[in-house]
Amino acid sequence: MPDQLTSKTVYLKDYQPTAFTIDTVDLIFYLYERGTRVRSRLTIHKTRKESDLEESLVLMGEALKPVWVRVDGSELRSDEYTIDDKSLTLLNPPDRFVLETEVELTPEKNTALQGLYRSGSMFCTQCEAEGFRRITWYLDRPDVMADFRTRIEADKDKYPVLLGNGNPVERGDLADGRHYAVWEDPFPKPSYLFALVAGNLECIEDKHTTPSGREIQLRIYVEPENIDKCEHAMQSLVKAMVWDEQTYGREYDLDVYNIVAVNDFNMGAMENKGLNIFNSKYVLASPATATDQDYLGIESVIAHEYFHNWTGNRITCRDWFQLSLKEGFTVYRDQEFSADMGSRGVKRIEDVRVLRNHQFPEDAGPMAHPVRPDSYMEINNFYTVTVYEKGAELVRMQANLLGAERFRAATDLYFERFDGQAVTTDDFVQCMEDVFENDMSQFKYWYDYAGTPEVTVVSEYNRDKAIYKLTFSQRVPDTPGQSDKPAFHIPIAMGLLDQNGKDMPLNIGDAGIHDGMLALRKPEQEFVFTGVTEEPVPSLLRGFSAPVKLQYEYSDEELMFLMANDSDGFNRWDASQNLSLRLILGLADKYRSGGPMEIPREYLSTFSAALMLEDVEPALMAEVLALPAESYISEQMETVDVEAVYFSRQTVRKAIAEALEEELLKRYGQLDDRSDYLVTPEAIGNRSLKNLCLSYLMGGESDTARQLCIDQFNSANNMTDVVSALGLIVDSDHPERAKVLDEYAAKWRSDPLVMDKWFSVQALSRREDTLPNVMKLMQHEAFSIKNPNKVRALIGSFCAGNPLRFHSADGSGYRFLADRVLEIDQLNPQVAAKLLRSLARWRHFDTERQKIIREQLDRVSSTAEISPDVYEVASKSLQS
Ligand code: TRP
Ligand code: ZN
Repeated sequence: MPDQLTSKTVYLKDYQPTAFTIDTVDLIFYLYERGTRVRSRLTIHKTRKESDLEESLVLMGEALKPVWVRVDGSELRSDEYTIDDKSLTLLNPPDRFVLETEVELTPEKNTALQGLYRSGSMFCTQCEAEGFRRITWYLDRPDVMADFRTRIEADKDKYPVLLGNGNPVERGDLADGRHYAVWEDPFPKPSYLFALVAGNLECIEDKHTTPSGREIQLRIYVEPENIDKCEHAMQSLVKAMVWDEQTYGREYDLDVYNIVAVNDFNMGAMENKGLNIFNSKYVLASPATATDQDYLGIESVIAHEYFHNWTGNRITCRDWFQLSLKEGFTVYRDQEFSADMGSRGVKRIEDVRVLRNHQFPEDAGPMAHPVRPDSYMEINNFYTVTVYEKGAELVRMQANLLGAERFRAATDLYFERFDGQAVTTDDFVQCMEDVFENDMSQFKYWYDYAGTPEVTVVSEYNRDKAIYKLTFSQRVPDTPGQSDKPAFHIPIAMGLLDQNGKDMPLNIGDAGIHDGMLALRKPEQEFVFTGVTEEPVPSLLRGFSAPVKLQYEYSDEELMFLMANDSDGFNRWDASQNLSLRLILGLADKYRSGGPMEIPREYLSTFSAALMLEDVEPALMAEVLALPAESYISEQMETVDVEAVYFSRQTVRKAIAEALEEELLKRYGQLDDRSDYLVTPEAIGNRSLKNLCLSYLMGGESDTARQLCIDQFNSANNMTDVVSALGLIVDSDHPERAKVLDEYAAKWRSDPLVMDKWFSVQALSRREDTLPNVMKLMQHEAFSIKNPNKVRALIGSFCAGNPLRFHSADGSGYRFLADRVLEIDQLNPQVAAKLLRSLARWRHFDTERQKIIREQLDRVSSTAEISPDVYEVASKSLQS
């Protein structure tokens, strides 16, 4: 039977604790290039003593070759157990016993990168969510927590470094040039946090002393050629440790903290207890090879995994439906950390941009699911922007509702109450409620229901009575399997601006406003402000106080007024985005009807005035002046018109380039700093505004702009400036396009992370020849279909980041994607399923495109032996 027909849906409502639990785990790994074996010794006891029923014990295991099975020392008879391709069943085990098994593994053939696998010349593991069952038979679920001891044996020359969870307790030499190391983790943990690494690695070291005076050894291990690229990651780790001590009162609990960078990794990084394993993209950085975004990404992912030690490891998830318990909270924590390290205002804008460009579309499509889902086929498909980023917004709303002091008290309570346990998102919210002393049951709908709430606001001003009235209505759209949703509890931060742009006092009687925050709880709700002596301009949803789509009919003048005056930086930015969005959507209509595409003078003068402001930080300015992404513009359309979106946006870009060339050149010149590269927030902000100016200038494709790009490409002392210039050149018909691409490849061909950028700028080029070029690049010696970073850089960038060419009307992009999904699914289902999501919103396109996408989804879902991962995405997409 094809795999997809045997793969079952798992439901939250079926959750039951296990009848047996595991107390201790002793593992021995005999690592070999061929014939790796794992011996396991588990002490197990029955938890449901009250039941007289004979309970069999089903341990999960996949892709394991059994060698033997022993209970309490004696090998089992064939009528005492069964083994199939997913499990080992002990038919009637004692109440308390020792289970020993030995299995053979093939890490050298593991291209799925789950369980034990090889990356380059090392062995490493990835066990979240269900990879441990590919290592040994186990109750591989997060509510089973045990003490782990791991012994690793391997060739000493090839694998001088042997790492495991917890503290190192023993090491020594063996016969035949082999050696061993033993690691012990004193904290009980679920199997998904297990890890080991064996390889020829070098490390950099540092120390951290916690407030209670404990000294922690910090080490980052990499392949020898990368040893000079770890400094930034180490600094980020130390900063994260200090921040968590100060902000949440949490300190680290083991003597050592190890991080290993690997080139082949399905996600960003993994928080394994005491032994984080990282995609090398989130460790390695030098000014010549990493961009500002890479530096910031490293800081935030290093912090994210470190923060998991408390929010994820010490307190873990009861089941995978609770994934956002650890991910939502940990993302919130890493967002706040980054905000404190850099520019808080800019960080908020970037986080909201991710939410709007990626999470809102997910929430409006066939893969929409609640932050706490209630069913899944393949859990790997639920590591989503909804669980992570929307989940973080839910924590943020609670933090805002409680206020800083009470939120800290609530998290203290959470850490104290649940340390060492596997719990639920309800348990988290209960801690908020206990401190808040306010009923949170309506708030919990945010966890239960998918879909982005739509909030519409209407205002009414009565001059005679000095009364201003805001009427809010909310609606949560239907999503797969969910309709007729109740009203949510939505915190709306707001202000009213007077003619001078100053905030007016908010008199609202006892309707419940605190710190400018309204609580919206009903489907329709009115708020009446008194003593309003002039008609105000409302500033709504300040700081993006809730993940909703808010609709209010502003005039263009009001948007410009907000942009210039709002005391809330986020809303100044949002007003600028709305203004551009309106303009571009208007042009898109003209594009379709063949009307003249004109840009109003006021738009250009507002832009130019903003560009020249001296007192606004450049980083924020770059956000304000950036045009909304094609994906976000498309999101506002009933039926997406990819060409209209692209060409309208380009028309604005070109108009700015032509009308404001002088100003842009001047600003570029002011910001072009040739001194030593620094990664301070100021320097990053300067570069981002400078490169935005360059990008506008290239929108005009003038000779001056082309020359500027070449000069910057040739003379820059850092990768941010190099790759910005390269991207612009590659997106154009620049005569030196081929030359700069060759130069770059010749210089960097042996650095995989730097080559990823080379693949990605080409995949993102809106030129007509991009798809054929992407196909050709798949044959390039630096490309490998087995490496997830390469697949994401080339194929992922094209399918998810180049709407104009991916959604080409002839369907070539869709066929290309389906081919790649089927090809990659044979190697790595998790990566294949992620790619296929680019087709999920097919209903959002015209009927011609819908027809072709449907055909491709049908082709994928009807292919024999596709993975449950890909089957779930294809079938759910088709169901919509
Ligand atoms: N827990 C990891 C994180 O967010 C996510 C992760 C890393 C993961 N590797 C994975 C999830 C593999 C599923 C499969 O920090
Ligand atoms: Zn995480």
